[in-house]
Amino acid sequence: MSKKSKTEPIAVLALNPSLDISYEVTQLLDDQKVPSMNTRYEPGGNGINVSETLSRLDIPVNCSCIIAGHVGEFVLQLLQYELHDLHYLSVEGESRINTIIMQRSPQGQCEVDGSGPDVPETVLEEIEESFMKACNSGFGIMSGSVPPGVPDDTYGRLAKKIREQGGKAVVDAYGTLLEKSLDSKPFLLRVNQYALEMYTRKKLRKLDEVVAITRQFQQDHNLNHVCVTFGEYGALLLDSKYSYVCTPPKTHIRSTVGSGDALLAGLVATYASGGDSATALKLGVACGTATTTHAGTGLCNRDEVDRLMEELEVKRLDS
Ligand SMILES: Nc1ncnc2c1ncn2[C@@H]1O[C@H](COP(=O)(O)OP(=O)(O)O)[C@@H](O)[C@H]1O
Ligand SMILES: [Mg+2]
Repeated sequence: MSKKSKTEPIAVLALNPSLDISYEVTQLLDDQKVPSMNTRYEPGGNGINVSETLSRLDIPVNCSCIIAGHVGEFVLQLLQYELHDLHYLSVEGESRINTIIMQRSPQGQCEVDGSGPDVPETVLEEIEESFMKACNSGFGIMSGSVPPGVPDDTYGRLAKKIREQGGKAVVDAYGTLLEKSLDSKPFLLRVNQYALEMYTRKKLRKLDEVVAITRQFQQDHNLNHVCVTFGEYGALLLDSKYSYVCTPPKTHIRSTVGSGDALLAGLVATYASGGDSATALKLGVACGTATTTHAGTGLCNRDEVDRLMEELEVKRLDS
């Protein structure tokens, strides 16, 4: 991968960072207290995870985020060793806490997410300004849900502005946030299988069917790149010419939290370094899958990603 100086600027908008608390338990039992074998406190929220992963890949990233209260202060403390170009604004209230429970037997995971503090219009305007400036003519990443007070056309509105200033908008969202960003023609859109099923109102099972639907979706909305991810089955990436698929090897999963964010970071890291779609997908899947081997919101590291890159194969589906 290219060195720092060769990448285009990357800015991330993290409107709703969280403190992720994860517990590893043997088994959850009704009406019983169960001890945690491993408790972790980690910074979280989609934008933060994407930023941290880019940073671990040695890709410079600017992150504009909103924090609140004591929880927000703690998140900032945890982030200081991870993110070197962080711009934050404080609002009243408390940043949210997301709780993840990883159960060993039978293996499973559940998560409860907080909704986050109210974001006043003036703060939203200010954070948007910082994000747009850092993005410049590079990549502007908007990922995940938005906190209370933030309109659901925010990603779409900003994606349009990014395009107008010569940059490349990257959107990872579902539901109305996704629908309202489509007309702004983001450079890259990442959805997981569930988000695509929600959008198409169809259960998607076969790869051929997903490829056809995704190609239609891409053409209908004039999108440069669309990535659909399928958890353990890997991911599909369409650019203007070809469709690529990459399936990871069977992995010992500890927690899947952050894997979609890590995948997105791998895609953007490649495009920002001038790489092609096949490489972007390979790095994306390597980051996503390496992240699943860490408990809680633990993200991938560079060595694991490099090892997986040697193992993974990307298949081009079109002749
Ligand atoms: N169970 C798993 N085994 C291996 N890789 C996984 C697994 N779950 C997720 N991943 C990796 O993370 C990527 C994103 O996961 P996915 O579940 O599709 O997204 P999300 O995080 O939005 O739920 C996948 O494409 C894959 O590379
Ligand atoms: Mg998943």
